[in-house]
Amino acid sequence: MKAFIFDLDGVLTDTAEFHYRAWKKLGERIGISFDREFNEQLKGISRMESLERILAYGNKEEEFTEEEKKQLAAEKNEDYKELITQITPEDLLPGIPEFLEEIKENDIRMAIASASRNAPVILERLGIMEEFDAIVDPAQLQRGKPDPEIFLKGAELLGVPPNECVGIEDAEAGIEAINAAGMFSVGVGTPQSMKDADYSVEHTDQLTLAGILEAAREKQYL
Ligand code: BG6
Ligand code: MG
Repeated sequence: MKAFIFDLDGVLTDTAEFHYRAWKKLGERIGISFDREFNEQLKGISRMESLERILAYGNKEEEFTEEEKKQLAAEKNEDYKELITQITPEDLLPGIPEFLEEIKENDIRMAIASASRNAPVILERLGIMEEFDAIVDPAQLQRGKPDPEIFLKGAELLGVPPNECVGIEDAEAGIEAINAAGMFSVGVGTPQSMKDADYSVEHTDQLTLAGILEAAREKQYL
């Protein structure tokens, strides 16, 4: 394996929780309540598409104009940006600093494939911006996850063929994107939500290079 392509939110740090809280607050304001189970369907999904899914869930798709929807998404983003000002390097999820170090020591290239337009700010706050050889800009893409475009772009920026890349995700849509890109998919989450991943762990401190490479060999991926 020559490259590891990472999702950010929910894999390197727990911003998935901040997204959930900010959407939940907006939902409550417009009379749509949802739980963590529904929230799984928002993970990895762009800001506008997430709003569309929430409105559809509350049967309120027709209640807002495009302009109003943009306003609602901006409102959520303001709350989210406020929440992420608290982030420090301490907020890297357990085991992540060691895992990134292990990958680097083995001369494997690393990229970020996050749907978030806030990713650069978060990477700076976490103090890991310099660890990555490439960061895909989601604003330059045509299609969001589960389309493989973002992972393929990451591989292209690194100059590594997709079949020599590992993709790491916490979102169902993200695992689907990695699989469709022809990469080895590693999931972080419950066995149920990560059922389509080639290999998965429940917590980030279980991620090791050796464990992933062994799983890839077992699946005859290498
Ligand atoms: C993804 C998150 O990483 O980024 C989604 O999993 C989020 O929940 C998406 O909607 C877009 O993020 P942002 O920061 O551009 O609103
Ligand atoms: Mg994620």
